[in-house]
Amino acid sequence: MTGQSTVDIVHTSVLRSEAFEYLVGEGATGLYIDATLGEGGHAEYFLKRNDSIVIAGVDADESIMRVARKRLEPLQNRVSFYLMWFNQFFAEYPEDLPRPEGILFDLGISTFHYEKGERGFSFSRDEKLDMRLQSGLEISAADIVNEYPESELADLIFEYGEERLSRQIAKGIVTARRSGRITSSLKLADIVWHSVPPSYRYGRIHPATRTFQALRIAVNGELVRLEQALDSGLSVLKVGGRMAVISFHSLEDRIVKRFFAQKNKSCTCPPEWPMCKCGGQRIVDILTRKPVRPGAEEVSLNAPSRSARLRVIEKVHEGEL
Ligand SMILES: C[S@@+](CC[C@H](N)C(=O)[O-])C[C@H]1O[C@@H](n2cnc3c(N)ncnc32)[C@H](O)[C@@H]1O
Repeated sequence: MTGQSTVDIVHTSVLRSEAFEYLVGEGATGLYIDATLGEGGHAEYFLKRNDSIVIAGVDADESIMRVARKRLEPLQNRVSFYLMWFNQFFAEYPEDLPRPEGILFDLGISTFHYEKGERGFSFSRDEKLDMRLQSGLEISAADIVNEYPESELADLIFEYGEERLSRQIAKGIVTARRSGRITSSLKLADIVWHSVPPSYRYGRIHPATRTFQALRIAVNGELVRLEQALDSGLSVLKVGGRMAVISFHSLEDRIVKRFFAQKNKSCTCPPEWPMCKCGGQRIVDILTRKPVRPGAEEVSLNAPSRSARLRVIEKVHEGEL
């Protein structure tokens, strides 16, 4: 590959070549959607590996899209940009675009957000506790932390963070906020730290990691948007086209796995019916019976890739539009 970018890039794309092989391949032509453009790492790689494809890149976050625009400038005649939520993009699929040959989702947030997001995604520096990918969202992380009743806060941390100490953490937050509004990421991380027993503080991850994940998911409605976008994305996808999803935690992966399995079923009649009456046809083939995981080398070079899982389907029938 030639023409290295001079833009300051901080995110290392995960499972890049695996995603390319499954989704695009050498001989492909036509339009591909990168539904989570980020800094444009996957898009740049795909465009450079196959010069017969074009890409529409979608991202909700304006600041990261500025980086992608700059990075992809040398390829600008083969890429278009859509600053919007991916569920909104597929629901209102642009009339001037053909149906895509492939769709990539690389879920969650980017290293960019931790290092340069300046919205409290990270607790390694002191930032305003916000976590909104788009400023138009009504509720910030600080609103949740300072205003939710204790039990709702605990449920949210449990459900979206899969945090078994959610009740203790919610109690710690509610006690701390009596002395003043919690507005900084470091402050919140410190409150979580002091809410959990010492034995929990020195594990593989910082004790606030799951709480921060839960807040980010809640603020940006990540799981609902994912469910909607998988469904509307699949409707938009050409028959014979592929959808690839890279997920980073079990909540995302479960949604993806279930959705793919559901669309892979030929019959959707209730299980208690003795015979199939729906005459349904399978909408997708699952190309990855087991998720593809990064190899030891990728993990050693890029630690955040260790939790990545890639699942891919091919659309074989139109289904209901
Ligand atoms: C893991 S990063 C993508 C990295 C990119 N593939 C690369 O190689 O540079 C995920 C991106 O998706 C965006 N994102 C997350 N949820 C989104 C949503 N619902 N709609 C649109 N963009 C979203 C984030 O802003 C972030 O930039």
